[in-house]
Amino acid sequence: MKNICKSFHGIHANKDINLHVESGEILGLLGENGAGKTTLMNILYGLYQPDSGQIEINESPIRINNPVESITHGIGMVHQHFMLIQNHSVIENIALGYKDTPFFFPKIKIRKKVEEFSKQFDFTMDLDQKVWQLSAGEQQRIEIIKALLNGADLLILDEPTSVLTPIEIKELISILRQMKAEGHMIIFISHKLDEIMDICDRVTVLQKGQIVGHADTADTDKKALARMMVGRDVVFNIDKEKLETGEKILSVQDIHVTGDKGMPAVKGVSFELFKNEIFGIAGVAGNGQRELAEAITGIRKIDSGSVWMNKKNITNKSPRHIYDNGVAHVPEERIRFGIAPGLFLYDNAILKQHHLKKFSKRYFLKYSQVKNHTKTIISDFKVATHSINNQIRNLSGGNIQKLILGREISEQPELLVASHPTYGLDVGATQFLREHLLQLRKQGSSVLLFSEDLEEIFELCDRVAVIFDGQFMGILNSDDPRLCDIGLMMAGSKEMKTIPTNPAI
Ligand SMILES: Nc1ncnc2c1ncn2[C@@H]1O[C@H](COP(=O)(O)OP(=O)(O)OP(=O)(O)O)[C@@H](O)[C@H]1O
Ligand SMILES: [Mg+2]
Repeated sequence: MKNICKSFHGIHANKDINLHVESGEILGLLGENGAGKTTLMNILYGLYQPDSGQIEINESPIRINNPVESITHGIGMVHQHFMLIQNHSVIENIALGYKDTPFFFPKIKIRKKVEEFSKQFDFTMDLDQKVWQLSAGEQQRIEIIKALLNGADLLILDEPTSVLTPIEIKELISILRQMKAEGHMIIFISHKLDEIMDICDRVTVLQKGQIVGHADTADTDKKALARMMVGRDVVFNIDKEKLETGEKILSVQDIHVTGDKGMPAVKGVSFELFKNEIFGIAGVAGNGQRELAEAITGIRKIDSGSVWMNKKNITNKSPRHIYDNGVAHVPEERIRFGIAPGLFLYDNAILKQHHLKKFSKRYFLKYSQVKNHTKTIISDFKVATHSINNQIRNLSGGNIQKLILGREISEQPELLVASHPTYGLDVGATQFLREHLLQLRKQGSSVLLFSEDLEEIFELCDRVAVIFDGQFMGILNSDDPRLCDIGLMMAGSKEMKTIPTNPAI
């Protein structure tokens, strides 16, 4: 890519970018939220046209007008937010994007092709399931297969690991290494510096739309990359103050919940949460975390058992009723459940809160208050946007997440149910959010934190429950030495005894 420029509303998203990849190479693309990574890759994939600049393959200039053309040039892309059709099966989704889908018996022929690839790259996939029933890792694999089937020499992966479990990440990395060995080129976007160091050969760092540095991973380290990206040193550790926990806020009693595939997903979970504490739920994705979070926040039906908030029964109440009782929610799938993509930022900043007196009067919204509130969130959470009159879908992935976090946290909820709140955030924003969660805890709120990132769990939580196959393997205080077995417990191989905390309450 030579001298690529692209502006939106007069603001440079990419400015004079020069980038090259060689065959058999994995290039990492790093940069803060809103730095222009996705935009640059969307240009390479033909989704956006550059304002100026040139793309060349094997030194001959090409013009990529749309993704179909990029596919014919051997370029494939796995997007930050998957672009699959949820109600269609895996095989139907693959057939839709396949350039050689035959007119007769398409499914049989494509099935054969996919099976060849599954064997070559050593993974399994049920082709007849509907996409909405699949985990993020499974959905991503469909996107990768689609690109490979179309003969991609260059595969672009936009934050591929932020939605994956540690095991799925290992599987993905092994697929990528194999592709590299076969001479494919890969451009890999990630905020996780460990990963970048692990699998990339070279790294290019973007800041505010411009390239600010290149490095060979062999000659650099995490700290240097973070400094290049943010422009200052980034502290990787934070101090958690010891606090006495306060009175009981939430009580979950023996709840059972059914998952999307119609099978029991949560099988008799009980726990209590107190003021001034962060309670972590660790586990490999797909063990009931999503269903548990959705059941507590009213999105999913509870089959039996009960949930109490401040001694009020909120079992199977509406999400709004539960929100009004002090429960905020940062959902796992931010685009599907966290925002209304086509609405403006200021509409999205008051979802769930529009009925509050400060934002509405009778049938009308008080737009000046709504807009002021939005501006406060934007400045507190450093959401990068040219205006609040901007559809939220135009924001970068990390900035959408920041707006959701700002909306949920700014009202100082009594309980915040947060599923992977740092997904897609850059290192600086991650640090900022973690400090914010600790501040909420200090101010008397409690946080129910779902995370697979053990570092995050250890850094923030007072108590940790490990969930496996819809059940708690046990609950431990964060200073319990047995926590070093957490990996085993996440795999379901060891049951620990629950330690009662705050028995007086
Ligand atoms: N279609 C669009 N309309 C208006 N602005 C856009 C559009 N697409 C991107 N932008 C803007 O371009 C800038 C760069 O966004 P981009 O999505 O490329 O960032 P990113 O580096 O991928 O960030 P993240 O790490 O958060 O995903 C942002 O300020 C974003 O708001
Ligand atoms: Mg992006």
